[in-house]
Amino acid sequence: MGQTTLKRFKAKEIIFNAGDEGDCAYIIDSGRVQIFIEKLGLEIPVNVLGVGEIFGEMAILDRSPRSASARALNEVQVSVVSRTQFEQRIEQADPIVKLLVSILLKRLRSNLGGGINAIAGQSSILVGGEGGSLEAKQNGDAQEGDHPDVKESHNQVIEKIKFEAELHEALKNDHFLLYYQPIVDLHTGRVAGFESLIRWKSDTRGMVRPDLFIGVAEETSLIVPIGKWVLRESFKALAAFNESLTKAGVSESKKADSLFMTINISGKQFLDPQFFSDVLALPEEFAINPKRVKMEITEKIFLSGNLSFFWLEKLRSMGFPISLDDFGTGYSMLSYLSQFNFDSLKIDQSFIRKIHTDDKTRIVVSAIVGLAKGLNIEIIAEGVEYQEQVDILKEMGCHLVQGYFYGKPMPFTEALSLINK
Ligand code: C2E
Ligand code: CMP
Ligand code: CA
Ligand code: CA
Repeated sequence: MGQTTLKRFKAKEIIFNAGDEGDCAYIIDSGRVQIFIEKLGLEIPVNVLGVGEIFGEMAILDRSPRSASARALNEVQVSVVSRTQFEQRIEQADPIVKLLVSILLKRLRSNLGGGINAIAGQSSILVGGEGGSLEAKQNGDAQEGDHPDVKESHNQVIEKIKFEAELHEALKNDHFLLYYQPIVDLHTGRVAGFESLIRWKSDTRGMVRPDLFIGVAEETSLIVPIGKWVLRESFKALAAFNESLTKAGVSESKKADSLFMTINISGKQFLDPQFFSDVLALPEEFAINPKRVKMEITEKIFLSGNLSFFWLEKLRSMGFPISLDDFGTGYSMLSYLSQFNFDSLKIDQSFIRKIHTDDKTRIVVSAIVGLAKGLNIEIIAEGVEYQEQVDILKEMGCHLVQGYFYGKPMPFTEALSLINK
């Protein structure tokens, strides 16, 4: 961490000149500071700053020379803040924010004028982090002659901004759809439920898989409206599946124990103050027992803090079973198991993939199944593709399986005809 030191300047003393190298910013503790530029030998005042204001931040943001000169107008005391103090924060900042800041700085520099700006940015910390010099570009566009890494990182950020805009449009224009992947009961051999999995039908990109956009949606909080849509759509589908079973002669009493729906929930959705009231309204609206709707989360949800336990417990108290996805891939799975009462565990596909070819994997899965049984937690094996895997899982006493062997995620109508078979 950088240190803060005090510095004093007499009236009219120059604090720094335009074009100087700058590796610190200043906060004015007392007095007033004039910012000025020189053009054609004339001094042009740009601003006068007072107590509590900061200056000299531009050079530390983009590692460019001072964009203007600074002079004490009277007796001035400043706190000097070193670049390192900011550097760590800037490096950790969102790449899009970094890009926008760099564009802003570029514009400000070009408005201030002067040759100083053309030599800006030898090793930016704003974009790319490793020697990028995005601010050396006019108006934020990648320029001829830029280092290839800089162009690359600039283009990536621009691409991401466009991608986010497309996601917003997709939500507005109803371009998301839900697919349903069957989950099969190994005791009965019948479909016991479905996991709803989102798809984005893009005009330009075709059918986009969720792992390509869910992460971005989580970063921008777009996951909140998307997740809301997923919840409602999943309830709607489950209600339709139930209705079709009723028509096919499955009695009302059996219906309550019939299909379930597993819905993927992202931790960010908990930040939406409306989330719980929305969720609470759904079982009544669609006449669905909350016990038939498993809320599936991953370990990631706990990384944002202990509050997640509170919200999960709240969901559980509403009657929704909580399922822990991708079990076995995280860092602290066992500790979460002892801290929270999960209803289901989903063994990650990476284990199931090797269960029939690798002895060690088989032992690990068998131990997980045993652990879950001991804790009275339901086990779901995901990624089942071969009969051999089914046989092994059955023998281990695994109850529920999901995978291409039984069916890929499919559109609503296909899922409907599957349950009617
Ligand atoms: P997930 O929740 O672990 O979902 C299982 C993924 O494994 C699905 O990919 C599914 O198609 C795939 N899969 C299932 N069985 C097999 C198999 O036998 N072989 C292979 N190779 N793959 C199999 P998908 O649909 O592409 O979803 C990817 C991830 O995106 C999901 O992983 C989940 O984390 C996320 N996701 C999907 N829909 C939603 C959603 O509505 N909300 C949120 N927050 N995340 C979602
Ligand atoms: P930096 O470029 O490091 O050095 C000159 C400083 O003057 C600059 O950072 C800003 O802190 C400040 N500065 C530049 N332009 C203006 C402006 N238009 N108004 C106020 N302060 C400015
Ligand atoms: Ca899942
Ligand atoms: Ca999974």
